[in-house]
Amino acid sequence: MSQRQAVGIEVQETYQSRNDAPIAAVKAWNDRWYEESGKRRRAHIATYGCQMNEHDSEKLDAMLLDMGYEVADGFDDADLILFNTCCVRENAELKVYGNLGRVKKCKELNPELLVAVCGCMMQQEHIVEEIRRKYRFVDLVFGTHNLHNFPTLLERVIDTRERVFEVLKDGSEVVEGLPAVRRKEVKAYTNIMYGCNNFCTYCIVPYTRGRERSRRPEDIVEEIRGLVESGTKEIMLLGQNVNSYGKDLTDTSFADLLRRIDKIPGIGRVRFMTSHPKDISRDLIDAMAECPSICDHLHLPLQSGSDRVLKAMNRHYQVSDYLETVRYARSKMPEIGITADIIVGFPGETEDDFEATLDVIREVEYDSAYTYIYSKRTGTPAATFANQVEESEKSARMTRLLAVLNPIVTRKLATYLDRTVDVLVEGRAKSNPNNWMGRTSNNLTVTFAPPAGTEGQDLMGHFVSVHITRPKNFSLEGEAILR
Ligand code: SAH
Ligand code: SF4
Ligand code: F3S
Repeated sequence: MSQRQAVGIEVQETYQSRNDAPIAAVKAWNDRWYEESGKRRRAHIATYGCQMNEHDSEKLDAMLLDMGYEVADGFDDADLILFNTCCVRENAELKVYGNLGRVKKCKELNPELLVAVCGCMMQQEHIVEEIRRKYRFVDLVFGTHNLHNFPTLLERVIDTRERVFEVLKDGSEVVEGLPAVRRKEVKAYTNIMYGCNNFCTYCIVPYTRGRERSRRPEDIVEEIRGLVESGTKEIMLLGQNVNSYGKDLTDTSFADLLRRIDKIPGIGRVRFMTSHPKDISRDLIDAMAECPSICDHLHLPLQSGSDRVLKAMNRHYQVSDYLETVRYARSKMPEIGITADIIVGFPGETEDDFEATLDVIREVEYDSAYTYIYSKRTGTPAATFANQVEESEKSARMTRLLAVLNPIVTRKLATYLDRTVDVLVEGRAKSNPNNWMGRTSNNLTVTFAPPAGTEGQDLMGHFVSVHITRPKNFSLEGEAILR
């Protein structure tokens, strides 16, 4: 099952009027093929990277359906393959190059196959040049700022049979009215802003996503209202730094936006990411505490526990500010789940700096954390820093970090034994497809067997009380209590 909604209320000139004719033309081309062959052309999207990219792929998916494509199972049965790429770390890029190699073989077998590449990697000139020269089977390249022009660009490829490359340097407009297919039944992503102004010295995102642009609060609220009406139970608000939402608009803030969203009739749960510690306000934490729909979960990237490293990273906060925010959040919401992103091996990170990160992990006692080995990104300041840490040292620090973090996560989960938690059911458990899986408000993963007598019942999207019987290393297991 999938849901389809317009993203944003205004069907603005920008998407519709620019693309109406190309959509109709590609659709007619696909319909003709169906009449001749009895088969529908199929498309496959390979998505890499963060939720931003996942949501962009939902928009591309809707455009492909509008153009008469069906969904392919994978590379092998596709007539069009679209790569939506990420370059936040080197291994994300390597995955894309590896899969492009596979697709080259598909194209040799089927010369009619169309291959398109978009997303963050394409915002980098040296990568586009590489695709142009070495990946000659790629037919279409576009970037993050002209995603809404995909139908127009695809039509040009089909029409001219020539390679089309179109990447814009920056995006100054917020384009409303894009369609999106949301294949997750219970949860939906909503962009609240695009871009990033922070230029953390390790990070490529400001170069790939451009400057911050906020969507108007009324567009966001209307979109969420539509999602709630069509049955979505949990909304994830997306922005690279949600705390600076509205700074480019008049008279609004992220806290105000949360309060407005919380008033939408029938709203279930709301989450958001990501909060930058430098401009998280008390008002935001107050809004979280005050609004019943806003989940008790704060993803607050630490990156490093050393003030010296934070300065070199251009993060604009100190460890003491960070810990103060955590304390305030916990004073307002004792059950709040706190999670983080942490980087090890940033250039110049000494043993003492690294130990300082371990100290913060011990002090905060995270509920979970995404941990990354620093990866050099061409074009970012840190890539040119002289004092790079040896690869072997970076891996050793990662191992040591996980040895501190993982037992903390497990120990915190153990405190849930015999407690009853409220779970929103998201799907079947991976470990056992007869069981269900869902999350608590504070973002803990819970699995449970269907209560006796409910085996045939679909619990997707239901709120269920679960009595925890078996805390595990990284999740909880329990028994549902029927209400
Ligand atoms: N805007 C968000 C997410 C940015 S990317 C934020 O500021 O939190 C997600 C995470 O990837 C970052 O938080 C950081 O921990 C990590 N990351 C970004 N660039 C990296 C790099 N060059 N090497 C290793 N990790 C990186
Ligand atoms: Fe990257 Fe920093 Fe912006 Fe996050 S806030 S996207 S880490 S530059
Ligand atoms: Fe996301 Fe990767 Fe781009 S993390 S913003 S898809 S570089």
